Amino acid sequence: MVLRRFTPIVLVVLVASFSAGVRTLAATVGDAAHGTRSYDDYERPTTCRSCHDDLYEQWTQSMMSQAFTHHWDEIEYFELAVPHSEKDETYADAQHGCNGCHAPTAYLAGDTPPQRPEAGTRANESVHCDHCHTVTGFEGDVPHNFNWVSDPGRLKTGPKPGVVSPHHDTIENEFIKTGDFCGTCHNEMSPHGVWVKSTHLEWKEGPYYEQGVQCQACHMPQAKGRSAKMGAEGMIAQHLFHGAHDPGKLNGAIEMRANPLERELPYDATAVINVQLFNGKCGHKVPSGSVEDRIMWLHVTATDSEGKTWHLPVDAKGFEGEEYTIAADVLAYQDMGIAKDIPNFEGVQRDGVAMDEMDIGDRVFRMAYFDPQGHMTMQQWNTSSLGYDYRIGPRETKVESFTWELPEDIAVGKVRINALLNYQRLVQPVADFLNVPADESEIQIINTASTWFEVYE
Ligand code: HEC
Ligand code: HEC
Ligand code: HEC
Ligand code: HEC
Ligand code: HEC
Repeated sequence: MVLRRFTPIVLVVLVASFSAGVRTLAATVGDAAHGTRSYDDYERPTTCRSCHDDLYEQWTQSMMSQAFTHHWDEIEYFELAVPHSEKDETYADAQHGCNGCHAPTAYLAGDTPPQRPEAGTRANESVHCDHCHTVTGFEGDVPHNFNWVSDPGRLKTGPKPGVVSPHHDTIENEFIKTGDFCGTCHNEMSPHGVWVKSTHLEWKEGPYYEQGVQCQACHMPQAKGRSAKMGAEGMIAQHLFHGAHDPGKLNGAIEMRANPLERELPYDATAVINVQLFNGKCGHKVPSGSVEDRIMWLHVTATDSEGKTWHLPVDAKGFEGEEYTIAADVLAYQDMGIAKDIPNFEGVQRDGVAMDEMDIGDRVFRMAYFDPQGHMTMQQWNTSSLGYDYRIGPRETKVESFTWELPEDIAVGKVRINALLNYQRLVQPVADFLNVPADESEIQIINTASTWFEVYE
């Protein structure tokens, strides 16, 4: 039950000031909003904490409360994006724009680049309570590149009507309950006009949008409780925003099955094993979001009855650009040399085949990003084209085949096939090159599958 103590007159006043706010701010969204506000226009998350203690604790554990302070964000912003934007006019705005999504209040206050996180400025509040709860809508046709409308003040936008608080006014806002709200930051277009982040667009063209399932349903699930200490009990939107940094969210994001084409084979035959991968849990493609950094790969081995093990490379399908989806010992990411002042930088390993968990020939589910020179890049602002999109869409199934001429020394008896689907947020060689703390490139097992066939004399 929510408290309904508003008189109709108060409501009319609130609605009026609400729409007036939208009108006066209509011109100041996206790039135009830079420097139009001050930090003091927004309340600190610690203020909200005094009543919304549980939601505050949840939010502090989410990645959005660390969008500016998290080590990898700090490294990429201060060591690559800022120096690059200072060296090349094309990217002059990149150092400001990152903050539009990662530290929106710093962006609005014109405090860009902000000081480093260790300085403890209010940029560290990252994507905070009073930012989201004073957004009233967005401008344009497609939500992207921080085109939300921000109207800070006493009035907080929320999901429920007629909610009463001693600290602020509240107003129900349909917009923040929709995926379009999230899309204002979860879609990004590069200075070259390329969609370098499209979680919202992927969702919008998939089955979940069609069925009315918003981002909030999976990332802010409703649970019984109170949203404020003195609030009424009811169904409350959780604020943990679990995503790719949470093993529990990643586990089983893709279902996997393996089956041999034939269960019994003579020792000199050729075996074919199929592996099916089904995205049954995710409202968008996997991986999504920071696709330039992320890889998911399928590692398949066979072990005979005497314990000898072989690695099975995936069968090529023959589409254009497939070479980027099969693990190989090649170099990439040459454009990191620009910010790092290394002329003619030869790049680092593209996939990380030096890791125990990956071998040449593993299938990699990814979409390659290319810089204007045609090299693969993980600098999304420097992306002028995209490679083949070999990720797994919502409710999509992909089948990978492994054709294997049985080796001469294979023993008769049962051959076990083990398939392992691994995920990494940041490719290992880039993490090593930039000294990104190990947890960002930790390998997560998304799923496993096994099967067998029998070899006879
Ligand atoms: C003095 C206590 C207090 C403080 C401080 C406070 N709130 Fe609230 N807030 C409440 C109460 C009480 C409710 C109503 C809860 C209920 O009835 O379930 C509420 C409700 C809300 C709602 C829900 C509105 C809706 O439409 O569902 C939002 C959003 C909100 N607060 C945001 C904030 C933000 C953001 C801050 C910090 C800038 C903040 N609050 C600070 C007490 C507070
Ligand atoms: C003001 C911009 C902004 C808005 C609005 C926003 N996000 Fe985010 N979100 C971010 C940024 C920036 C990150 C990256 C944090 C990091 O890792 O540095 C992020 C991270 C996340 C993550 C964590 C992903 C991971 O890698 O673990 C999830 C989940 C998420 N957001 C969901 C949502 C949902 C759902 C909504 C809408 C209700 C939303 N976001 C609205 C900017 C925003
Ligand atoms: C990334 C944006 C974002 C951030 C950051 C955020 N919220 Fe929310 N909050 C939402 C959205 C979206 C909803 C409504 C979800 C729904 O019902 O679909 C919501 C709902 C709420 C509600 C009402 C809960 C309910 O279901 O009745 C309160 C209260 C609230 N938020 C307070 C806070 C506080 C306090 C913080 C900071 C500690 C915070 N929020 C941070 C987006 C955000
Ligand atoms: C049907 C449930 C579902 C819906 C709907 C959904 N997600 Fe997700 N999301 C997931 C799962 C499961 C994961 C973990 C797998 C992964 O990281 O790819 C995830 C991961 C993410 C990530 C991290 C992606 C990565 O690989 O780094 C972000 C960011 C995110 N979601 C944001 C959103 C936004 C924004 C929307 C709406 C436009 C949304 N999600 C809709 C289930 C959902
Ligand atoms: C349009 C909004 C937007 C802009 C602009 C933006 N980002 Fe992001 N960024 C996000 C979101 C949303 C995520 C989370 C995606 C995910 O989890 O997969 C993210 C993720 C990241 C990550 C990965 C974080 C992690 O922990 O895995 C880094 C690093 C990053 N951004 C740096 C930057 C830099 C540097 C810039 C400027 C050149 C920038 N971003 C511009 C929205 C944005």
